[in-house]
Amino acid sequence: MNIHESEKIAGTLRAMGYVECDDENQADVIVFNTCCIRDNAEKRALGNIGAFKHLKKANPNMILAVVGCMTQQDGAGLNLRQKYPYVDIVLGTNNLAELENAINKLKNTGKKSVLIDQNENPQVLEGEKKYRTSGCNAWLNIMYGCNNFCTYCIVPYVRGRERSRKMVNVLDEFRRLIDEGYKEITLLGQNVNSYGHDLNDGSNFAKLLEEISKIDGKHRVRFMTSHPKDLNRDVIDIIANSKSICNNIHLPIQSGSNKILNLMNRHYTREYYLDTVEAIKEKIPNCGITTDLMVGFPYEEEADFQDTLDIVRRVKYSSAFTFVYSIRKGTKAALMPQVPPEVSKDRITRLIAEQNKITKMLSKEYEGNVYEVLCEDKAPKRVGYVCGRTDSGRLVTFKGDEQLIGQFVNVKIDKSQSASLFGSLVEE
Ligand code: 5AD
Ligand code: SF4
Repeated sequence: MNIHESEKIAGTLRAMGYVECDDENQADVIVFNTCCIRDNAEKRALGNIGAFKHLKKANPNMILAVVGCMTQQDGAGLNLRQKYPYVDIVLGTNNLAELENAINKLKNTGKKSVLIDQNENPQVLEGEKKYRTSGCNAWLNIMYGCNNFCTYCIVPYVRGRERSRKMVNVLDEFRRLIDEGYKEITLLGQNVNSYGHDLNDGSNFAKLLEEISKIDGKHRVRFMTSHPKDLNRDVIDIIANSKSICNNIHLPIQSGSNKILNLMNRHYTREYYLDTVEAIKEKIPNCGITTDLMVGFPYEEEADFQDTLDIVRRVKYSSAFTFVYSIRKGTKAALMPQVPPEVSKDRITRLIAEQNKITKMLSKEYEGNVYEVLCEDKAPKRVGYVCGRTDSGRLVTFKGDEQLIGQFVNVKIDKSQSASLFGSLVEE
C-alpha cells in the first residue's frame, strides 16, 4: 500500500517536472512517506526525518515533506512542526492530492503547509498520476480504509472508513495496465474481501475477481490483504477456476488462541479459520498460504502462544510475517495489561524457528519439479542470475539473461535453502 502511495507521490512530482535522483544531497524535493503500524516503523521515519536536518541546513532551498499515516495520528502535525521545524510540508493520508499546490505555494510565497484532513469518509480519487517502480508488477488499489477496528491496530484511525473504487474504474485501470505490458497485477485493500459493500450497487470481491478473470492475456493476479472472517467460498471457487488469479492467499490469522482472537476483535475462531484453510486446500491444491502472526498481545499466556504454534504446524504456511505486538496510542489494546518485552522476545524467537522449519520442509517439496516463473528482476548480488516467483508466490533464483525479465519461463528447481529456491531454465 505504501509503495503504491509512493508511486503516486512520484507521479505527481514527475508531472511537475522533477526527476528521480540517487543522491539526497542533490535533491530539490524529498518526501518521506511514513507508516505508523508499529512503533519501530514510526521511530525509523522520525530518525530519517531527523537525519535530514543537516541537508536542509546545507541546502535551504531543498523542500522537505512528510506525508502518510504517521501524520494522521492525534496531534502528530503539531508535534512534527515543533520537533522538526525545518520540515516544509506535512500532509495527511487524505491530503496527498495537495502536494503539488503545497510545493508551489512554498516556492512562490515561502509559506509552509500542514494539511491533515480528519474526514473519515473522503472522496475516492480517480485518475491520480502514477510513476510505477515495480518492474513488470503493478499495484492497483481497489479500496481504501478499514472498518474492522482490530483492538491493536491504528489503521482505521489513520486511514478512515472503507471506501471502494467503482468496479468500472478498477476494471478500466486493470485493462490499461495489461495493455501497457504489466504481467502481474496486485489488487490492494486493507480488507479486499469487503470490497464493494459500501457501493450499494451489488458489487463485491467475488464479482470483481470474476470480471478480472475474464480479461484475456497472459498475466497474473494477486490480491492483499484478506480478512479471514470475510474470505468466502465464492472467492475460493473463483480462484480455483481462474487461469490468471494466482494460487496464493495471504490470510493473516494474528493468533491461534480463541481468547486472544476475541480480545483482538477479529470476529473468527481458530476453528472457523481452519475450516477456511481446509476449503482452500481442497479447492486449490498447491495454494501458497501466507499469514501475519503476532506475539505478546495483552493477556497472551504460554497456552495461547502454544495455540499459535499449533496453528502454524497445522496450516503449514509457505511463509509468515511475524510481529511483536506494539502499543499504538488510541487503540483499545493500549489500555490493556501488557506482556513483558522479554516474554514477547522469547515467543517471537520460538515462533520464527517453528515457521522456518516449515518453510524449509515445504521448500524441499519444490525440488526436482518444474514451475512456471514470472521473471521479475536481476537476482540481488548474483551477476548473470535473475529471479521471479512461482504462481504460489515462492521466489526462485536462476541463471538467465536480463532479457528474460517480464517473461514467463519454466524453471526446474535444483535445490532449496530455507525460503530460497534455486533452479535452472528449462528450454522450450
Ligand atoms: N503491533 C504489532 N503488529 C501489528 N500489526 C498491526 N498492528 C500491529 C501492532 N499494533 C500487524 C498485523 C497486521 C500487519 C499488517 O501488521 O499482523 O496484519
Ligand atoms: Fe488493522 Fe484489522 Fe483493519 Fe487489518 S483488518 S487494517 S489489522 S483494523
